[in-house]
Amino acid sequence: MKQHLLEICYLIGSVTFIFGLKMMGNAKTARNGNLIGAVGMTIAILGTIFLHTGEVAPMIYAMIFGAIAVGTIIGWMTAKKVQMTAMPQLVSIFNGMGGACAALISLIEFTHHMHSGEPATTGTLIAIIAGLVIGSVSFSGSMIAFLKLNGNMNKPVRLPAYNMINNVFMLFVLLFGAYMVYSGGSLMLAYALFASALLYGILFTLPIGGADMPVVISLLNSFTGLAAAFGGFLYGNKVMLTGGILVGSAGTLLTLIMCKAMNRPLSNVIFGAFGAGSAAAEGNEVKGTTKEASVSDVAVLMNYSKSVVIVPGYGLAVAQAQHVIHELEMLLESRGVSVKYAIHPVAGRMPGHMNVLLAEANVSYDKLVEMDDINPEFSNTDVVLIVGANDVVNPAAKTNPASPIYGMPILEAENAKNIIINKRSMSAGYAGIDNELFYNPKTSMFFGDAKKALTELVAELKTMD
Ligand code: TAP
Repeated sequence: MKQHLLEICYLIGSVTFIFGLKMMGNAKTARNGNLIGAVGMTIAILGTIFLHTGEVAPMIYAMIFGAIAVGTIIGWMTAKKVQMTAMPQLVSIFNGMGGACAALISLIEFTHHMHSGEPATTGTLIAIIAGLVIGSVSFSGSMIAFLKLNGNMNKPVRLPAYNMINNVFMLFVLLFGAYMVYSGGSLMLAYALFASALLYGILFTLPIGGADMPVVISLLNSFTGLAAAFGGFLYGNKVMLTGGILVGSAGTLLTLIMCKAMNRPLSNVIFGAFGAGSAAAEGNEVKGTTKEASVSDVAVLMNYSKSVVIVPGYGLAVAQAQHVIHELEMLLESRGVSVKYAIHPVAGRMPGHMNVLLAEANVSYDKLVEMDDINPEFSNTDVVLIVGANDVVNPAAKTNPASPIYGMPILEAENAKNIIINKRSMSAGYAGIDNELFYNPKTSMFFGDAKKALTELVAELKTMD
């Protein structure tokens, strides 16, 4: 009876994961999708604890619930206070914890088999060793990704011939794992494999530039999913298997989507050393003069235009200017100006960053226009207002083969009749390169922190009734 109930719990868990994930594909339903997935996970966890068929000592229950309480409190508090811009760091920490879990499960199961004197079957050993290696790589890689995204490790660290060292080391870890499966291994060897896989995770992530970290996190996320799926195999646990496969495939798809949006193959992200800090390399410096606009210049221009397209970028998120930009949009609309937002697929620091940010400020979804749909409209746009975006409007992606972002599809803001760029200085964006758009004769630089500058702009517009 208990077993049947447990199967039903797992079925509910699996179905809610699938529905939840589907609902997360749309900003309108994403919150509920997340909630549905969480409810399914809770049912699966409680089912596993209470419908377990073996004898469980009260002390074990105390430890399980103690751990759940500590995890819930830390997770809740961290997620509550994290800034939108720090979300990738949070994801990498959470992902690392998943990887560590999978690795520890494998270690414990391996120890269990060693001590029980009952040799594990080859299938079980494959699941244990794969979970151990992939989970460890995911854990240590995610920790490095966290440090990089958090600004604690700004420069990519590259040993000489790092690509070769990394590949040789990867081969070593794989062969070591295969040997463990073949020979049955020993406890000491299992710990040595654990350490080697942790080291490989570090070596794998260290040379990759900060700008590519969201792609790496997504890739590591798919590793964690895979490691969890091996755990599912190990225990014959269907919900763990489904969850792992879903995380693994979603992570893989996201990785590929991001690479496509940046027009770079995954191999270039991993081995290409992009965002090396040397990215502002020769051939990427632009020379020319820029024009500065005051808040009243911008207000007059916008007030008398018919169509405005706003390009939000990372700086808008940092400044938390989403509410004031919505206010600006409504003010302009009330004066008969048509306002749209142009959304680049990798604007900000993670996929969907701009959609979520603007949704938070109640910007209507139908005002958000995807890159391919808005690009043909720029030539008929009176004013494009670029707020805290840089790389995603850099024409060098189309015109300069020497540029590290060459080939990345961009928002063709340069085609608009007037270009206003709001940022604090002439500094480069994440790719670390100059932007020729700043020197375009149609461009006026509107310097200042996005929130402050836009608040002043709204105030100025209000005086112009
Ligand atoms: P960026 O190119 O990083 O430019 C952001 C600009 O915002 C900076 O030039 C900065 O200039 C400005 N800024 C910073 N704080 C500001 C503030 N408080 N007020 C006003 N401006 C501020 O951003 P983007 O155009 O959104 O491009 C995203 C980049 O991230 C791309 O290179 C993309 O490839 C990369 N990336 C994104 C993803 C995803 S999935 N989103 C994944 C991997 C890589 P100042 O310092 O002068 O103010």
